[in-house]
This record gives sequence, structure tokens and C-alpha cells, in this order.
Amino acid sequence: MMNVAVVGQGFVGLTLSVFLSSKKLQVFGIENNQNKLKTIQIGKSPFFEPNLDKNLKKCLKLKTLQFVESLNPIFPKIDVVYICVPTPNRNNSIDLKFIKNVIYEISHLLKSTKKKPMIIIKSTVAPQTTNLLLKILSKNSNKILGVDYFLIVNPEFLREGSALDDQMNPHLIVMGCEDSKSQHKIKNFYKKLYPEKIPRTYTNFSTAELIKYSNNAFLATKISFINSISNLCEKIPGANVDDVANAIGTDPRIGSLFLKAGPGFGGSCLPKDLNSFISVYKNFGIQPILLNSVKNVNEKQSDQILSILKNRYKKLEGKTISILGISFKENSDDLRESRSVILIKQLLNENCKVKVYDSLALENTVKLFKNTIEYCNSIYDCSKNSDCLIIMNADKEFKKITHKNISNMHKKFIIDTRRILKISNVEYIALGKNSDNY
Ligand SMILES: NC(=O)c1ccc[n+]([C@@H]2O[C@H](COP(=O)([O-])OP(=O)(O)OC[C@H]3O[C@@H](n4cnc5c(N)ncnc54)[C@H](O)[C@@H]3O)[C@@H](O)[C@H]2O)c1
Repeated sequence: MMNVAVVGQGFVGLTLSVFLSSKKLQVFGIENNQNKLKTIQIGKSPFFEPNLDKNLKKCLKLKTLQFVESLNPIFPKIDVVYICVPTPNRNNSIDLKFIKNVIYEISHLLKSTKKKPMIIIKSTVAPQTTNLLLKILSKNSNKILGVDYFLIVNPEFLREGSALDDQMNPHLIVMGCEDSKSQHKIKNFYKKLYPEKIPRTYTNFSTAELIKYSNNAFLATKISFINSISNLCEKIPGANVDDVANAIGTDPRIGSLFLKAGPGFGGSCLPKDLNSFISVYKNFGIQPILLNSVKNVNEKQSDQILSILKNRYKKLEGKTISILGISFKENSDDLRESRSVILIKQLLNENCKVKVYDSLALENTVKLFKNTIEYCNSIYDCSKNSDCLIIMNADKEFKKITHKNISNMHKKFIIDTRRILKISNVEYIALGKNSDNY
């Protein structure tokens, strides 16, 4: 049986470990955060992801998956090592500290192993990063690429909320290699892991890195595009952004996905990858005109909500504002770059009283905002005594709000950033619809 190590047990690493272990590989999940390690060792995921806990427990029971703190003691038996550590932003460009740490460690471990391991980069990295990592590996280990070890850039495209399904059935497998032996190795390894029908792209390091950045930048562009149409719709009598999006989405050259207008994109990937892509352009002396606009539209989008409130109330100080949905999207407890978090900070700056409700993300919200806001366990509690209720994500619970849920609001005023609510006899403003439409 092949022994596989997966370094970093976050969204990507943990779901990958569970997937690989279900394929009857012997998997070692490496996690250096003690609290996270303890949690996953008892079969609990540190974050919400549908079906993950159940599958994690199954793998632990079968003993095809175990979690350890460090790569060091197990490295001599490892055939494949995946790198799934964070690649965050620092000063708006990519911070390579985590990935470099792992590569330095592997380069030293390579010196003494008798195996010829395959090293697979899953973390999202900027073009030319893997060339740099290769230099570290070859200089420190004195081993030769394609002879003593193999190196592949294999970016991840999973979506939080369907991460396990996406691990099993990716829409595409990108494999970037600089030598034919690495390409041969990964091709054979993935032949057994993934159905034949899944398209494969074989390319070099830089193009593989560029594919992932371009993919995320294009998704971000679609969202900012429809949000700028949405802003125009609000001004034109009768206009409705959803009708526009649905219609243009039927054109196969455009496609219907990522055309939902809203409060802007957030999450752990799009904002950070867009920022580092912008800095890649600058490093090569090219003005990132388009990507800067995508970013600007996104950043202005949460100001839209604040201006609606300011137009309505003139003075926001002392008003009670209720926020439904804190995570960056429904079915998630991930607050990274969530537009709700930005809005809450803006409202606190205006000296508003903020109440929040989210069926999955309250625990993480408490860690972030401590006692500065009020946490509620239902829509009813959250809307009580409120001057405005703001729907921030498309959780299915929010679609069913009735007058009963909001009977104790101080002012029956709702801002619906996703246009999911159908309710009459309240003051209702939806982003992307002209108010003459109600
Ligand atoms: N989250 C997504 O939806 C997604 C999708 C595609 C690609 N990616 C990319 O994948 C990478 C990982 O993302 P994520 O969301 O899983 O990150 P994450 O922050 O959820 O998890 C990363 C984990 O790595 C651990 N870690 C850091 N250094 C380590 C080390 N030296 N040894 C062991 N563990 C270590 C951290 O403690 C953390 O638990 C990033 O580059 C991200 O851009 C993420």
C-alpha cells in the first residue's frame, strides 16, 4: 500500500486526506496546530463541511488515516507528499512563509530517505513560485529532480460547501511538471484515483500556477461585472439584475454561474488570490487595469449597504441593526474576508448596536467580535427591537422569513442583498432592483 502524507489539515488538506484514505491509500495527515490536531484526531472537523465528520470517523476506524504533528518521523516511508498549507497575503502580495517552511523541511528529509517521493503542490501559488521551491529543494538536498524525487504543481479547485464531492470529482486536473519522469509518475498515480472522463491538462510549473490564478480572477471578474450591472439596475426604473443575469447566462459564451449579484465576493480564496495576482502584474511592469477595477467594484459593494442605511436614517448612531448570515456564503462557517464582517465593523464605527444570527458561524463570530455585538439563536431574536434587518447570504432559512419571524422589529425595514425574500407590507430594499419594482 502506498503511504501518502498531506501537510496542512485545513479545507483542502483534510478533505483531500479523507478522499485519499477512501481510495485505500495509507494516509498521514500532518497538522502543526495542536488544537486542530487534537480535534481531528478524535474524528471532528475543526470547520463545517457537509458529510466531513461522518467520513472522517469512518477513515479513522478503518485505520487508513491517522494524524500526526510532524512529517519528520514518518518521512522514510512516504511515497507521496501533498503540500496544502496556507498562502495568505502580506502587504497585498503572496506570503510564502508557510510553504517555504515545509519545503525546507522536506529538502532536509530528502537527504536521508531511501524513497523517491513525489511532492505535489496543492496550495495556490503565484507564477514562478515553484521554480523557487525547486531551487530550495535541489540546493539543500543535493538530490536530482526526476531521479531522486518528483515535483508537480497540481492546483486545487474545490468549493467550500461541496469540498468532498469536488475532491472526488474535480472538473479538471491540472498537472504542471518540468521533467518527463514527474509527469509520468503523476499521470499513473491519478489514473487510479480519478475517473477517466475527468479532463486533464499537462503543462509546466508556471502555466499550472497561472491557470489557478486566472481561474479565480475570472470568477471574481464575473461577480464584479454583475455587481456593477446591479448598481445600475437600482437607478433605472423597472430594472431587475436577476432577469439580466438569467438572460445573459443562457448564452453559452457567458454561462450562468457566478452571476449572482450581492454584497461582493469574500472567502479564503478570491480576494487574496486577486490581490497577489495584481502584484504579479506589477512585478512584471504591467498595469493590472482590469483586475484593479474588479477589486475596486468589490470593495465599494459593501459601502452600498451602508449608504442605503444612511439615506434612510441620516444618523445611524444608536440604531439597532440585525445581520442575518455572517459566513462568506451559506452552508459554511468560514468568516475569512466575509462581507458581513466588513459591514459589522462599519456599523460599529457608526456606533450602531449590532445583532447577528447565523446557524453555522456564530462560534467563529464570537471569537472575532467578542462582546462588541449581540449573538442571537434565531431570526426572531435577532430582529427583536431592530431598526433594520439585513440579509447577507442566501441561507435557505432566510428565504422563508414571515411576518411572525419579524413581529418584534422596531421598524419593519429589510435590506435583502441576495433578493431571496418575498414579503409584503414591510419597507423592503433589494440590491440590484429599482425600488419602483416593489
Ligand atoms: N479553502 C479553499 O476553498 C481553497 C480552494 C482551493 C485552493 N485553496 C488553497 O489551498 C491552500 C490551503 O488552503 P486552506 O483553505 O485549506 O487553508 P487552511 O488555513 O484552512 O488550512 C491550512 C492548514 O495548514 C496548517 N499548517 C500550516 N503550516 C503547517 C506545517 N508546516 N505543517 C503542518 N501543518 C501546517 C495550518 O495550521 C492549517 O490548519 C491555500 O493555498 C489556498 O489558497 C484553498
